[in-house]
Amino acid sequence: MLGTHPDRISKTTNPPRQKPNIEDYDLARADFSWQTANSKLFGDVADVCSSKYNITYNCVDRHAEDSRRDKTALLYAAEDGSTERFTYADLKKQTNKFANVLSGLGVNKNDRVFIFMPAIPERYIAFLGILKLGAVVGTMFAAFQEEALLDRLSDSEASVVVTNTELLPRIQNIQSKLPCLQKIIVVQRGSTELPVASNVVAYEAAMQDASDSFQTVAVKPEDFAYMLYTSGTTGKPKGVIHSHSDIVQAMATTSAVLDIQENDIYWCTADIGWVTGVVYGVLGIWGLGGTSVLYEGRFSPENWYRVLQDHKVTVWYSAPTAIRMLMGSGVDTASYDFSHLRHLCSVGEPSNPEAIWWGLEVFGLPFHDTWWQTELGGICISNLPALDIKPGSMGKPLPGIEAAILDPAGNVLAPGQQGSLALRASTVQSLMKTIWHNQGKYDSYFIGDWYISGDSAYCDADGYFWFVGRNDDVINTAGERIGPFEVESALVEHPNVVEAAVIGKPDAVRGEIIKAFVVLKDGVKTSDELKKELQQFVKSHLSGHSYPREIDFIDHLPKTRSGKIMRRVLKAKELGLPTGDTSTLENY
Ligand code: WTA
Repeated sequence: MLGTHPDRISKTTNPPRQKPNIEDYDLARADFSWQTANSKLFGDVADVCSSKYNITYNCVDRHAEDSRRDKTALLYAAEDGSTERFTYADLKKQTNKFANVLSGLGVNKNDRVFIFMPAIPERYIAFLGILKLGAVVGTMFAAFQEEALLDRLSDSEASVVVTNTELLPRIQNIQSKLPCLQKIIVVQRGSTELPVASNVVAYEAAMQDASDSFQTVAVKPEDFAYMLYTSGTTGKPKGVIHSHSDIVQAMATTSAVLDIQENDIYWCTADIGWVTGVVYGVLGIWGLGGTSVLYEGRFSPENWYRVLQDHKVTVWYSAPTAIRMLMGSGVDTASYDFSHLRHLCSVGEPSNPEAIWWGLEVFGLPFHDTWWQTELGGICISNLPALDIKPGSMGKPLPGIEAAILDPAGNVLAPGQQGSLALRASTVQSLMKTIWHNQGKYDSYFIGDWYISGDSAYCDADGYFWFVGRNDDVINTAGERIGPFEVESALVEHPNVVEAAVIGKPDAVRGEIIKAFVVLKDGVKTSDELKKELQQFVKSHLSGHSYPREIDFIDHLPKTRSGKIMRRVLKAKELGLPTGDTSTLENY
């Protein structure tokens, strides 16, 4: 028992509201083969280059060419309550046009084109148009500031960025440091005139002139499709590369886990700058020919409840921090009509049992936790509609996926034993293809055929996996993965800072918050104003959301004799835990 709640939500007493796509987990697991899943989608296309493998063909063209042509693919809901609908036929036309625009600018297969836009429909048209051309699409959060942008655009050697008028200055301020950047395509959406510059292309004008027919570029399943920068403990963010064949796992899991069926109205709250926004905001839902809601506006409980109600959302994929914020807001839910909702899922951070029980109370439905990572390209461990939920557990490995808990030598541990969460690499079809320009980093993820996730976990006797924590210093704040190094690098650029170390500090709403320990230059006085200034400094240089919510000034940082910052010592002190072996530390 957990508090006053039982430790299991039975699907016999809480059955799914609609017959789920997978009714029997064991049977589905026994029956599953990636070969069958691939031939179901690609038919008998031999393993040669074909437009059939292109993600955009699978997400758009084949639906536009059949009975789904007039079905709503994208329902855009702006904060002011206005809406725009795009059918599959519209998406086909628009993505053809955008592919022609890029082609006219000289973009070729494998070139990197990045998207830096708020949640507006054009970013989906751009995303799919880039893929249609066989170029590699990268996405970035609209909250990113110049340092974060520069790291990603220079490492990827992107030749084009697609942005909007509001965000354009951030790209223009760094363009002199980006020798590979040829063009900036700017969406105006009725805003004021564009600055005249030879490398700036007006999106609307270019789209108007472009032809709406385009031959989707043939690709091989393993050809690069999208890239996302993600953080580890050390160094700058790394470019994780995914391929066109990811579509198969995206669709299989959107069907198995999110349980998307023909008449669903689906809302994935994740931003496209995050892997969830790519795989479950684009690939999976449109691969299955579904209808997806895109909400552009601020988070507020009232706004979100209105989206659920007004658009009659049936399947909702969200994140624990958002759920905790809704829960903690105290906004009365009784006046909203959530009767269309039938299935709820969450991702990105540990899902606390209270949030699951709250969902059951308010929506009459439990949240189904799902686990995966940027590198994996699709959900690997999850709770399923027809499987009992053990609140707090991530669920079971999906059909086709083999997961295990390993000791440091790579041996599989018995149920109940805590260790390193690993996946049999050959069983994850959407596993990354490489790390951009960093094969060594890619290789470091594997022990034999095991992909090592960096999470520690255990598996119970019933085969349910339970998250314990990270094995490294990566911070997970509000579901977002933040590398301490990036924040530290931003802090030390402030003229008053000598050095800085950053940790994740447990937080009831955000899972963790970023806490910084800062060593100031001799003679600089500590003050609350300086703390605020440093916070603002990180916000304006790196990103609006990855700034330290807490700052402590200290005299020196704990370091190994070779100069490596020992963040775990700071974290242990912060949490009042034993600091462990400090004999290798200098100065501490
Ligand atoms: C964490 C997000 C607990 C985990 C799709 C993982 C989770 C990292 C869960 C990946 C979950 C993700 N329960 N922790 N259900 N889902 N995580 O790459 O530490 O942004 O390694 O991918 O988030 O974060 P990423």
